[in-house]
Amino acid sequence: MYRYDQYDLTLLEQRTAQFRDQVVRRLSGALSEEEFLPLRLQNGLYHQRHAYMLRVAIPYGTLSSAQLRVLAEIADRWDRGYGHFTTRQNIQFNWIRLEDAPDIMDRLAEAEMHAIQTSGNVVRNITTEHFAGVAADEVLDPRPLAEILRQWSTMNPEFTFLPRKFKIAISASTTDRAAVKAHDVGLYLYRDERGEPMLRVLVGGGLGRTPMLGVVIREALPWRHLTTYVEAVLRVYNRHGRRDNKYKARIKILVQSLGAEPFAAEVEREWALIKDSPATITQAEYRRVAAFFALPPYADQAGPDAADVAARQAGNPEFARWCRRNVHPHKVAGYASVTLSTKPGMAAPPGDVSSAQMRAVADWADQYGFGEVRVSHEQNLILPDVRRQDLHALWQAAEAHALATANIGLLTDVIACPGGDYCSLANARSIPVAQAIQARFQDLDYLHDLGGLTLNISGCVNACGHHHLGNIGILGVDKNGEEWYQVTLGGRQGAAAAIGKVIGRAFRAEEMPEVIERIVATFVAHRHGDEPFSDTVQRIGLAPFKERVYALAGEQP
Ligand code: HEM
Ligand code: SF4
Repeated sequence: MYRYDQYDLTLLEQRTAQFRDQVVRRLSGALSEEEFLPLRLQNGLYHQRHAYMLRVAIPYGTLSSAQLRVLAEIADRWDRGYGHFTTRQNIQFNWIRLEDAPDIMDRLAEAEMHAIQTSGNVVRNITTEHFAGVAADEVLDPRPLAEILRQWSTMNPEFTFLPRKFKIAISASTTDRAAVKAHDVGLYLYRDERGEPMLRVLVGGGLGRTPMLGVVIREALPWRHLTTYVEAVLRVYNRHGRRDNKYKARIKILVQSLGAEPFAAEVEREWALIKDSPATITQAEYRRVAAFFALPPYADQAGPDAADVAARQAGNPEFARWCRRNVHPHKVAGYASVTLSTKPGMAAPPGDVSSAQMRAVADWADQYGFGEVRVSHEQNLILPDVRRQDLHALWQAAEAHALATANIGLLTDVIACPGGDYCSLANARSIPVAQAIQARFQDLDYLHDLGGLTLNISGCVNACGHHHLGNIGILGVDKNGEEWYQVTLGGRQGAAAAIGKVIGRAFRAEEMPEVIERIVATFVAHRHGDEPFSDTVQRIGLAPFKERVYALAGEQP
């Protein structure tokens, strides 16, 4: 993975020293809260319902085992022993004291981590596939380009005061595991017929109160123009974005109001001015960065080990189930990628991982892989390179740490924002609803029979839990000071992304497990063979679901 050079280190040292001084001045009263606010937000420090919250960047979701141990240390020394992994592959600490924040920043910097640009109207953490570089179905490794974009966007003076936050995702698989279409700029990396890496550029995706999927504005952009092209997009946005209205300030609104074609034309005009400038990525620069992502020294593991795994599965249905859902094909024979579920149900809210679990995962990354861990936008942790012969041992270890729930991609693999338990913007809580549903669907055999089914929960319209993209989406709404939940159906993530539709009036928290059960029962009643949930919804529409759900109270939807 990428290692910092002297420039990176100097930049972080200077930034943490500057931030320490800002905190000291705030604590002494020399800076008012109003003056301090933009300074802390530049460093990922929010003020939430109970305490300060620190969001630490995990560039394209990649961590070393050593970095994960530092996150565990931060959780223990300065928080309450856990962290929350988010849908943008970052980690948040919820119980930070302001006076500790500079020490935490220093500790992060020592481990080549930081919280810069994890909030504010800037280019946020660049996200990508959690199986980047190792997935069997990947066309190319997106990480070198993600890293180049990261370096280009970090403290880029031209883009530190954008009209609104700006999110970029890049994917290089045909399935798209990075929710590319829900980003301000979405990038698909592919090879053209001559084998040259090319980019398809989408703009104007985003969730929040006006959910939209990105539209393609450029096909076949040669990879070396990545930064100049994205720069042109940002310049057009910077020039025309609606700074006068926070709710209309995202690029999606601009693209919608200008129209995708005129927007693209303006980007092309802007790009013509900087295309082939020194900012164009050279072969040498690409190679330099790509060298950090060179394949680790895989051993030839093919053959008998695979048979061993098969034999163990035959004798152990639980292990077999875990292999089916949580183990993913690797591009190198004899290896697999493993998803460790952070969704055991009542034991922990989605995405929450304790320091003990973090340390265990770091140890497994060293023991069974090459010291690397990934964070998925589904808020799970991934060990990218596990020898197949070690799968059984890893499974047992993960079981002991409540990280082996065999539910990846299933109904209980709930994606949820922290909601009203932590977030001061929330209309309703997310975590208790997630847990009540998880508790209702504990029968793993039944869940496996239902097949892939995504459930996403957000505590307000900001959509941090990507509820629009869930096959079933739940949105917390406020009705006269009470918590209610609106349900959407038909959302999808991935290459065939779709935004879900609201089914009718909202429900009370205690109704939610029953509502989900009725939705699932309707699916089971109409399903053809092994059809996935989202295909059934697409085929039969919302009406049968509405009928069944609202029959509950004998009411009209
Ligand atoms: C301190 C707590 C948080 C605050 C104050 C916050 C605030 C916001 C706001 C205001 C938006 C709407 C932006 C817009 O549409 O213009 C938003 C969107 C979003 N946030 Fe959060 N958020 C928080 C925590 C989280 C967490 C925990 C996650 C992941 C679990 C997350 C991921 C996202 C995502 C994915 C979006 C929507 C995607 C988009 O439209 O770009 N945020 N957040
Ligand atoms: S969706 Fe709303 S409640 Fe949930 S984290 Fe985002 S801002 Fe907070």
